Parts: sequence; structure tokens; C-alpha cells
Amino acid sequence: MKEILHELEARRERARMGGGAARIDAQHKRGKLTARERIEVFLDEGSFEEFDMFVEHRSTDFGMEKTKIAGDGVVTGWGTVNGRTVFVFAKDFTVFGGSLSETHAQKIMKVQDMALKNRAPIVGLYDAGGARIQEGVAALGGYAEVFQRNVLASGVIPQISVIMGPCAGGDVYSPAMTDFIFMVRDTSYMFVTGPDVVKTVTNETVTAEELGGASVHTTKSSIADGAYDNDVDALLQVRRLIDFLPQSNTSPVPEIECFQSVEETDASLDTLVPANANKPYDIKELIAKTVDEGDFFEIQESFAKNIVCGFGRIEGATVGFVANQPMVLAGVLDSDASRKAARFVRFCDCFGIPVVTFVDVPGFLPGTAQEYGGLIKHGAKLLFAFAEATVPKVTLITRKAYGGAYDVMASKHLRGDINYAWPTAQIAVMGAKGAVEIIFRKDIADPEKIAAHTKMYEDRFLSPFVAAERGYIDEVIMPHSTRKRIARALRLLRNKDLENPWKKHDNIPL
Ligand code: HXC
Repeated sequence: MKEILHELEARRERARMGGGAARIDAQHKRGKLTARERIEVFLDEGSFEEFDMFVEHRSTDFGMEKTKIAGDGVVTGWGTVNGRTVFVFAKDFTVFGGSLSETHAQKIMKVQDMALKNRAPIVGLYDAGGARIQEGVAALGGYAEVFQRNVLASGVIPQISVIMGPCAGGDVYSPAMTDFIFMVRDTSYMFVTGPDVVKTVTNETVTAEELGGASVHTTKSSIADGAYDNDVDALLQVRRLIDFLPQSNTSPVPEIECFQSVEETDASLDTLVPANANKPYDIKELIAKTVDEGDFFEIQESFAKNIVCGFGRIEGATVGFVANQPMVLAGVLDSDASRKAARFVRFCDCFGIPVVTFVDVPGFLPGTAQEYGGLIKHGAKLLFAFAEATVPKVTLITRKAYGGAYDVMASKHLRGDINYAWPTAQIAVMGAKGAVEIIFRKDIADPEKIAAHTKMYEDRFLSPFVAAERGYIDEVIMPHSTRKRIARALRLLRNKDLENPWKKHDNIPL
């Protein structure tokens, strides 16, 4: 009996060594943790239960039958993050570069199926070279099975990918179908085909970092939602994100204890908007002063900075924030900002997370670059996302809400539940100068007349009251009471019950 127990321990020990001491050392020398070390950092201490530790590949081509390694390049199982169940798989780069074989795919599929059946988030830690070349179509088929499960789980359970090494092929397509992708700076790359293939096909010379490093994917392509300096930081930040997310689309949003009363007012907000309407201010200050204890998890912080998206809590419960940022391009809506915010709003709506929208937007960005780039369709994505969302929607216009952008930004007309404005709000088709030059074109040569028309336009339209008179704004509120008012609105909406008409799925302009 004792021998059998020893045999189990010995087998486990061999499996834990993955591709062997030399490859583990190489992993560490590159500043990366191993798959098991990553899981240990990510999950609550001692909570990891591993599945399929002894699975091996079945390939016999290219002499593969002589190189079988228990676990076959991926560590899978489940554990907890601050007590809540999370399924996890971590690619083991020390075993065939973490590449995916038929059996490796089956291990991932098993945890995907379990996560979906048990309605819990799934997190993939990627450090892998795509399909196992020696297995050919068996590996390709394995990927497609993983992709299919990504799609079926989309909108049912949160799926998060963390890119922690060089990733290619299927190891970028599966993450691309998950809700969030995070990367580690300087050690992680994502590309469909690597620099060598690029050189052969297009004759471009490009480094892995230039082709698919964290800075490219967080600032240019917007593939990644955030990047961190090292493995540990990335894993701890993903734990923080998971704390904000519900377990599934049928679970309530998580609620934790709130240590900051919502009854307190904040007088500094009364002077946040500068007297000069063309001067910027930082909308993140308003977000920080609205959420509990200033705790805000921003998504895509380095991309389309003219709109801010992220999670916070009010009275302990998760809320999604979307806010125009007057500090960047005056908060204008362009294609990138629209796509970024649309995806975020749709995530919130999938998972029952209320959306709070702060509006200070001078309109959509004019110009050929935007029009040729498909601004009409990208802008429509955000409009579509806000309009279809049935979660509680609370909107606050702090300053400008001009033109189509007024409509788009969770206006009353798109089923905004509670729409507030500060007294500094200006809700109009456009700013005074542009408006007067169009409707009083005949007086353009007479500065006195133009000044009079401008004053009249400003007095009449550049305030929240025309909209408030029509009921498009439910109430004009004092800036200092913002947190309290939004908290009250969200409390009111806790039992909101709204359904869209039945459909197979919508046809959002992609
Ligand atoms: C089998 C692989 C492998 C793969 C790496 N290895 N990728 N084995 N299949 N796909 C092995 C290497 O042979 C090596 O084994 C070990 O992993 C480490 O790889 P290195 O190349 O030494 O590491 P590095 O220099 O860091 O480069 C990592 C890499 C590179 C950028 C990932 O290995 C690479 O380009 N791999 C191929 C990527 C690729 O084209 N994959 C197929 C994509 S198609 P030893 O024994 O020496 O340690 C695909 C289809 C999916 O995925 C469908 C999508 C729609």
C-alpha cells in the first residue's frame, strides 16, 4: 500500500517538473513564472485543485512517441479568488512551447465545459506557440473545439485571458473571443504569425515587440485591455478585476462592505467644471469622487483616452462607468472611442452590471480620416449598445452634450432610467459660434448683431433647462451631491425589470 502511495507522489512530482529543470530555469531567466507558479499567485492559497495531471499526447509522428510529458503542456483545474470559484488553465511553455495537441485541447475543453455548467468565470494564462505542429489537423480541430466553447460561454460567464509569453496562432484567437485580455510588458507578445513569417511573406523586418508587444496592443490595436510590469502584478490585478464581476449572467453583481457613506457631499465638485467652457478638466476626478473609496478599475486606459471606461462600486455593488474625457480631444467621440465604449457597455449589459454615464462631449469628430475609417458604423456601435442595454442606466451631463453625441450617450430617449444634469450642462445641437454662423449667416459681417445673436443662443440653449423643461433631464442636481444622487438612483433601480423583444440575436453594426 505504501508503495502505491509513493508511486502517486513520484508521478505527481514528475508532472510538476513539466519540461524539466533546464527549461524551468530558462523560463525564470526570462523573468517569467512557470504555469504552476502563476496559478499559485493567482488563486487563494491552497485552493487549487488540478485536473488531468497525467494526461499525455497520443501522437506518434516525428518520433513524438518518445517524448511524452505528463500534463501535455497545460495545467488545468479550479480554485477560488477571494472565496469565489474560478476555473483556470495555464499554458506550460516548458512543454513543447505550450503548444496545443489534441489531448491538451481536451483538457482545456473539460474546464471550459465545467465553468459553463457550474456558471463560474474562467481565466486562461497564455504562454504558447499555437497548434502543435507535429499533430497537424488534430491540433487545428482541438483549437476549433476550444473556440466553439469560447463562443457558447460568451455572455454567460466572464472569460479572461492573460498573455504572459510569446503567443501565436490559436493562442491569440481564443483570447480574442474572451471578454478581457491583459498582457505583461516586455515578456508577452501576440500575433497571428510571428516576425519570421512576416519577413518571408511581406518582406517587412519587425521585432516581436514591434509586431505584437504590450505597447502595440494597448495603444494601437486595442486588442489588450491593460498591461502590467510583471507576472505577479498582472495576476494580482486580474484578481482585483474578478472581485468586480458576477459569477455569470444569472448571478447578482458582487457586493462588498462599503466604508464610505454616500450621504457625504463633496464641495470640490462644485468647481470641477471651469468657468471657461473651452477649458478641460479631468473626468477621472469625478469618477474617483463618485465610487466607493476611490477604487476604480480602468479598462483600456491607454487607448482612445477621450473616453474612460471601467468598474467601480457604489454602496458596495459593482457599477460600470463610461465617461467622456475633456482632457483628451475635448472628449470628442471618434471611431476608437465609440468601439471601446460600445464593447464595455455590452459587457456590462451581458452581466447585469448597471451603467453610469458621465457626459461632456462636443460631438463626433469631423474629417475625412474619421469618415473613411467608418465613423458612421463605429459611432452606431455605441448608440446600439446603449440603446439595447436593459441594465439600470444613470446618466449625468456635466457640461457639453452636443448634437448626435447627446443622443448616443445614454440619453433619456435611449431608455436612460435616471438622467441628471449639473447646472453647468449645455444641451444643444452645437456650440454657440457654429450655430449662430449657420442660422444668422446674413448677419455675419455685422459683429454687433452676431454678438447679440450669440448671447441670445447661449442664454436660451446652453443650459440644462430646455431639456429639463421637456423632461429629457429628470433633475438638475448640485455637483457636490453627485455620489449621493447616483447612489439613490441605483438603489431605486435595483429591481428594474425590462426585456427587449425576443430575437435570435441582434445585428449590431460590426
Ligand atoms: C510544437 C513548438 C511550437 C509549436 C514552439 N514549440 N512552438 N512545438 N508546436 N507550435 C517548441 C519549440 O520547438 C521549442 O522546443 C520550444 O517550444 C520553445 O520554442 P522556441 O522557439 O525555442 O521559443 P521562442 O524563441 O521563445 O519562440 C516562441 C515562439 C516560436 C514565438 C512561440 O516558437 C514560434 O514561432 N512557434 C511557432 C508558432 C506558430 O506558427 N504556431 C502555429 C500557429 S497555427 P524545444 O524542445 O527546443 O524546447 C495555429 C492554428 C490555430 O495555431 C488556428 C487559428 C485560427
